[in-house]
Amino acid sequence: MNFYKELELILEAKSPHVKIELFGTFYNVYKSGQVDFEKEYKTKNFDQPSYVHLCKIVPPQDVPRRSNLTTKDGQINLLHAIAHIEYSAIDLALDGAYRFTGLPKQYYDDWIEVADDEIRHFLSLEKLLNELGAKYGDVEVHNALFEASQKTQTLLERMAVVPRYLEANGLDATPMILTKLQKLPKNEMIEKIIRTLHVILDEEIDHVKKGDVWFNYACAENGVSNELYFEIINKYYPQGFLRPKNLNITARKEAGFSCKELNTMAKGNVC
Ligand SMILES: [Fe+2]
Ligand SMILES: [Fe+2]
Repeated sequence: MNFYKELELILEAKSPHVKIELFGTFYNVYKSGQVDFEKEYKTKNFDQPSYVHLCKIVPPQDVPRRSNLTTKDGQINLLHAIAHIEYSAIDLALDGAYRFTGLPKQYYDDWIEVADDEIRHFLSLEKLLNELGAKYGDVEVHNALFEASQKTQTLLERMAVVPRYLEANGLDATPMILTKLQKLPKNEMIEKIIRTLHVILDEEIDHVKKGDVWFNYACAENGVSNELYFEIINKYYPQGFLRPKNLNITARKEAGFSCKELNTMAKGNVC
């Protein structure tokens, strides 16, 4: 089995279940050491996300809100929004492994492992959606994560933006959703959502940490300071950090952010 060619097929798979099945086969062969890295491979630029035939794509502000979480519709919207992030994250992890060729083997091990985590996250949310009588594709989605991957075509920028900005934003956002859910009257579905989000939050720390390792690697390879991080984020997200008042300091520190970085993000002394 060839590494880049197979990842390309998995990335291009049009349905979650085909993608996940192809990945399962690939991952078993990969772990057994039977995958060959092609010496030269011309990677494709994707002009559409893989879910384009499954989900209706709308601008981020038009994605249905998750306002009332005691209702079935509110729960479906919430679960769908997070399932979509996880589904997009499968492709982001795979694309990170696919696009940047000729790196140390550990780099590929790391992002293939992340893709495997994202698949589990997606499946656990999809299961809850199904329990509510819904499925992935039922609610409009935005393609901001796909666009972020399209825009970042160097390892340095990709690691700064995808794990160290987007996935790190999740570390701040998930505890806020959990707090909201914990305040609601107890019910079985709410409890299941809370348990699932706890697992995801816990595992996402490691994804950001892997991003930190490879971001620093890319900085060293390019002979630049890791302070370039803020310049890159400012270039793509001039609005800055989404929740400067609610940074998850503990999780972010565990994931490799320095106090200096956290204080800059928060525009104050938080660490
Ligand atoms: Fe995830
Ligand atoms: Fe992740």
